[in-house]
Amino acid sequence: MENESIYILAIESSCDDTSVAVLKNNTILSNVVASQKIHEEYGGVVPELASRAHQQNIVPVTDQALAKANIDKKQLSAIAFTRGPGLLGSLLVGTSFAKSLSLALDIPLIEVNHMQAHILAHFIKADTMKTPAFPFIALTISGGHTQIVKVKDFFDMEILGQTLDDAVGETFDKSAKVLDLPYPGGPLIDKYAATGNPYAFEFPIPKVKDLDFSFSGLKTSILYFIQKQTSQNPNFIQENLEDICASIQFTIIQILMRKLKKVVKKTGIKNIAIGGGVSANSGIRKALKAAEKELGWTTYIPNFEFCTDNAGMIGIVGYYKFKLGQFTSQETSAKARYHITS
Ligand code: KG4
Ligand code: ZN
Repeated sequence: MENESIYILAIESSCDDTSVAVLKNNTILSNVVASQKIHEEYGGVVPELASRAHQQNIVPVTDQALAKANIDKKQLSAIAFTRGPGLLGSLLVGTSFAKSLSLALDIPLIEVNHMQAHILAHFIKADTMKTPAFPFIALTISGGHTQIVKVKDFFDMEILGQTLDDAVGETFDKSAKVLDLPYPGGPLIDKYAATGNPYAFEFPIPKVKDLDFSFSGLKTSILYFIQKQTSQNPNFIQENLEDICASIQFTIIQILMRKLKKVVKKTGIKNIAIGGGVSANSGIRKALKAAEKELGWTTYIPNFEFCTDNAGMIGIVGYYKFKLGQFTSQETSAKARYHITS
């Protein structure tokens, strides 16, 4: 029994991606993500539409994940699901589906905290990824969160700093919206920034105490800057898109890197792992690689597919919880606000 493989089916539905993964121990057999295109025309996630799309997607995505993994439902050891944090309506779809599956198959149910999953995604076994050694510092940057977390063990985490207002991803997306770019704009800013001059325009770096962040001032200053420039030259955005994107991205990376330097100084921990959708950003990846050489840090950067929301990261948490026997009862319910230490 000891050496038997553990097969976890994991479900992620906290925001606008419906994802189902199948894991054999700590390796991914399949990780299917259905991104909801419907939100593009609204310039952001519409919660009601998101839950409706999850309902439509969840069964076909599950079937696809099982087929890709070449696993029969009867072989599964447990069902893991995102309990929170996230949009309540979206979480409810995944939670109810996970509960029914676990009941029907008579196998354990495992609840997962989405923010812990972004961090523990580093423990997915993949050729191109190395696993961090404890303790390490995790910078979790996504559309909904910006946190600096001290990770002492798998389930022993402490938030050292976080945003007081907007998240980094939100700042990317809202800046992109001002530039008339479609949602989600983060990847597009990244793309245009590659050929732009990061010093072309200067945006303010907010002064926020300790290890906390604030992005609302930067967001507003970008909006005012664009409004002012376009009132003088209606073609300002088209003529300067690459430079504007490079300058915005440069400013955001400066903010993140300054806080990381501060946390290394404060804790003495030089193992830095990034997670969350924004860690797909090529600028932050480059800055971290440079810090390895210049500052002697060891940095951990997940594969792209494990940065943005995906069920693979939910499954790896499921695997470690399974080993610890941490199961959830059918009484569980979705939790829109769910602290990383709970
Ligand atoms: O983790 P995630 O998929 O969902 C949340 O839990 O929020 O993160 C999505 C966020 C979006 O704001 C998106 O614009 C941002 O990650 N993002 C990026 C990049 N790829 C995704 N931001 C900047 N550069 C990128 N390459
Ligand atoms: Zn996320």
